[in-house]
Amino acid sequence: MKKYSIVIAGGGSTFTPGIVMMLLDNIDRFPLRKLMLYDNDGQRQGIIGEALEIVLKECAPDIEFSYTTDPEVAFTDADFCMAHIRVGKYKMREADEKIPLKYNVVGQETCGPGGIAYGMRSIGGMMDLIDYMEKYSPNCWMLNYSNPASIVAEACRALKPKAKVLNICDMPVGTLRRMAGIVGLQPKDLEVRYFGLNHFGWWTSVKDTKGNDLMPQLKEFISKHGYITKKEVESQHMDESWQETHLKARDILAVDPTFLPNTYLKYYLFQDYVVKHSNKEYTRANEVMDGREKDVFDAAKSIVKSGTAKGGEFHIDSHATFIVDLARAIAYNTHERMLCIVENNGAIANFDFDAMVEVPCIVGSCGPEPLSMGAIPIFQKGLMQQQLAVEKLVVQAWIDGSYQKLWQALTLSKTVPSASVAKEILDDLIEVNKEYWPELK
Ligand code: NAD
Ligand code: G6P
Ligand code: MN
Repeated sequence: MKKYSIVIAGGGSTFTPGIVMMLLDNIDRFPLRKLMLYDNDGQRQGIIGEALEIVLKECAPDIEFSYTTDPEVAFTDADFCMAHIRVGKYKMREADEKIPLKYNVVGQETCGPGGIAYGMRSIGGMMDLIDYMEKYSPNCWMLNYSNPASIVAEACRALKPKAKVLNICDMPVGTLRRMAGIVGLQPKDLEVRYFGLNHFGWWTSVKDTKGNDLMPQLKEFISKHGYITKKEVESQHMDESWQETHLKARDILAVDPTFLPNTYLKYYLFQDYVVKHSNKEYTRANEVMDGREKDVFDAAKSIVKSGTAKGGEFHIDSHATFIVDLARAIAYNTHERMLCIVENNGAIANFDFDAMVEVPCIVGSCGPEPLSMGAIPIFQKGLMQQQLAVEKLVVQAWIDGSYQKLWQALTLSKTVPSASVAKEILDDLIEVNKEYWPELK
């Protein structure tokens, strides 16, 4: 059996240990010969790297493991790059969330002005990663989690149309686990139809393997409880603020009971509620810094201190299942059905051909082949058209260095009430993002 070489870009990510533990758990179905971490912050990555070196020595000594900040070392001889970088790290996520909130506008990692600001930082970092991959391992596939995935995907389409990059999101996977919990089945037993932009979509059908329609049962449950399940079905998305988000799905469903919504729609349909329920001094970035980030880095330090990982400090998480399954689907040409962010090209019949949309795809060695989702109703189409324009304007603003286009992007976002508020937020964002954004004229 061929053994694979993987580079994880954003080696210092809070999700790196979970993905590595998942890879090790799958070593019989997906054998590895080499595992490399790459990050541009050597100090941060060093903590995770040192701990994982101990993990690997203890349970998979045959895998060649190392970590580096040198792109040539990192990207040479790689079959897959699993990317999850956060340009500007949590400090900048905090600014993305807090600046809009100052103006009573949604402050969120990937939605509204915060997501736009993050997009303007991510594009450059992602384009660099693609350049390294194409230079040092031209046959490598990049599986990218780095956010904001919709803006990153549009930048890939516009700037690197031939690159072997596949942009993905774990939210539908997490929510599908919840749906499976609700109907008492396993996630792999559900077959779905779904359409949308990333963090902006709907399930139009959920069936079991025999073809039985599960939508009526799911709708009845979700209209009362949202996606809050009785039993714990995923380890991610469990904090209290996430519970509120899962519950809010019942109100999103009430707006259009035809389809089951992605939880992220709350930021576009219930903006006022979201602002009212936000703490302007302590946002999700603060929760994550005090929670997941602290836990993962404490676990790493404890492994390094004791010299062993036998205390079970690092955990496999559900976020990792998808990216490992996806790599396997490409490696072994399995033709599994998975949601990916791809160029529309008619998959959504009445939507722009050049939109990056999230739809079910058949994934094999040639990458994702989108399935036809047919025509979509006017409500969803209207919302998506507006959001698509925002995302395209951000990418154009980055390419042209255009203040005007970025102002238009913010103005068009459904989360922003007016062009004047958009301008005030934009001017604040420019101030704090000087180090990361192209200069705007
Ligand atoms: P994190 O800050 O813990 O990790 C990101 C790492 O990227 C850091 O170590 C940082 O130093 C590094 N980095 C930043 N810029 C870089 C660059 N230009 N080159 C190389 N490395 C760079 O963040 P996290 O919370 O673990 O999340 C990582 C990423 O994964 C984020 O973009 C997050 O939004 C994304 N994510 C996406 C999904 C999804 O559904 N698509 C799910 C979870 C997380
Ligand atoms: C979901 C989304 C990701 C997002 C993450 C944020 O998993 O799909 O795109 O990055 O939530 O979670 P956090 O715990 O960092 O707020
Ligand atoms: Mn996502």
